[in-house]
Amino acid sequence: MTITVIGHGYVGLVSACVFADFGNKVWVIGHTPEKLDRLRSGDPIIYEPGLAEMLQENNRAGRLIFTDQYEPAISESEIVFITVGTPPKADGSADLSAVYKVAENIGHHISSKFTVISCKSTVPVGTNLAVEKIIKKVNPKANIAVASCPEFLREGSALSDTLVPDRVVLGSNSKRAIDKLLELHKPLPGKRVTTNLASSEMIKYASNSMLATKISFANLISLYCEQTGADVEEVLDAVGMDSRIGRTFMYAGVGYGGSCFPKDVQALADTGKKLGLDTGLLDSVERINHLARENFLKHVLQEVKGKKIGILGLAFKPDTDDIRFAPSVYIIEQLIKKGFTVTGYDMAAMGNIRKIFGDKITLVEDAFSAIKDADAVLVLTEWNEFKQIDLKKVRSLVKTPLLFDGRNIYDPIKMKELGFTYSGVGRADTK
Ligand code: UDX
Repeated sequence: MTITVIGHGYVGLVSACVFADFGNKVWVIGHTPEKLDRLRSGDPIIYEPGLAEMLQENNRAGRLIFTDQYEPAISESEIVFITVGTPPKADGSADLSAVYKVAENIGHHISSKFTVISCKSTVPVGTNLAVEKIIKKVNPKANIAVASCPEFLREGSALSDTLVPDRVVLGSNSKRAIDKLLELHKPLPGKRVTTNLASSEMIKYASNSMLATKISFANLISLYCEQTGADVEEVLDAVGMDSRIGRTFMYAGVGYGGSCFPKDVQALADTGKKLGLDTGLLDSVERINHLARENFLKHVLQEVKGKKIGILGLAFKPDTDDIRFAPSVYIIEQLIKKGFTVTGYDMAAMGNIRKIFGDKITLVEDAFSAIKDADAVLVLTEWNEFKQIDLKKVRSLVKTPLLFDGRNIYDPIKMKELGFTYSGVGRADTK
């Protein structure tokens, strides 16, 4: 099959590489010449394990073609995927301007051949119908069917999530479009959910909001634990043993970040408000997420006596260089404001942190240099490298053995034995 993917962020590039890897010819449309050159030369731009190899292999095989032109990509393709960004606006609603601009461009180039226009960008209910309207307004003869094909990949495990999905959701009001999409997705394992446009659009928001709700619930319970002598890890381990609840995605910490949960919870709340619904639950999920980092910071500010802070982990989660809405960004901002000197280390995200903070932060090439002579150590991302780090060495290098574990990766008892004043999240005996 020949397909086009418009946009080459996480969703676009990973999908393009995977479909090309299955033997399809995939056009990828972008608008920044330097980025397209990098992609052509095999540099995926984003940090994602395994992606560079897949990109290079499919570039070599000639199955991936990067371009800034809509022609001949659109008229050759049976399916066109829209995968451009839908960032949050100041009021929390999704900014759909890039999606609508792309729809207009498609309208100008679409031929009279039947083409499926499938949106992989996360868009509020009704957006795909608006996309259809725009294309048909520009080109009344367009022979298209719109579809929603949400992507559930996580950064850091994007390839395996795409190659081994739990489910493939395909939504359209056209059976012909669903059949085409089923054919393209045939090599993938996982359940198939075929549904109408609105349900498919809702599935993505409901999934991300449910996951964010579980995290905020864990963080709320951690606040109770902190004040009552309970230990959040033991509490949630036992809660999670109930098979109706489960333990996955219920870990307390400094809160969720990234390009999806914060924006998608807000966008679903915004849709709810427009529909006249009570969005209290979703509003609380976001509020508690903010509270999680505030509470962590409160302890740091109360307990650290010196001015030198060493931070381990800056990305919003491990295995990515992404710092969008990362708890680290907020925490560093506040620490700098309060006059602390911050030294940080991360396996992948230092370049992005540098872009925000410039020389206001010192970034170093290894964990031990980051914590050397520190008055406190903050762990903000649970990279594997930190889980079994030589803590005796850390203890010997810091000035004050004060460690704030924002991801609960260490055992409080062992930390005490090693001579640390340890502060986890929701772990009362350590506070
Ligand atoms: C998420 C969804 O998981 C994915 O299905 C969707 O397609 C995009 O959004 P992603 O943002 O890449 O993926 O990361 P994810 O692994 O879900 O983590 C999101 C944030 O939640 C991270 O900041 C992580 O640290 C935090 N988190 C996750 C917790 O704080 N506690 C948990 O128990 C799980």
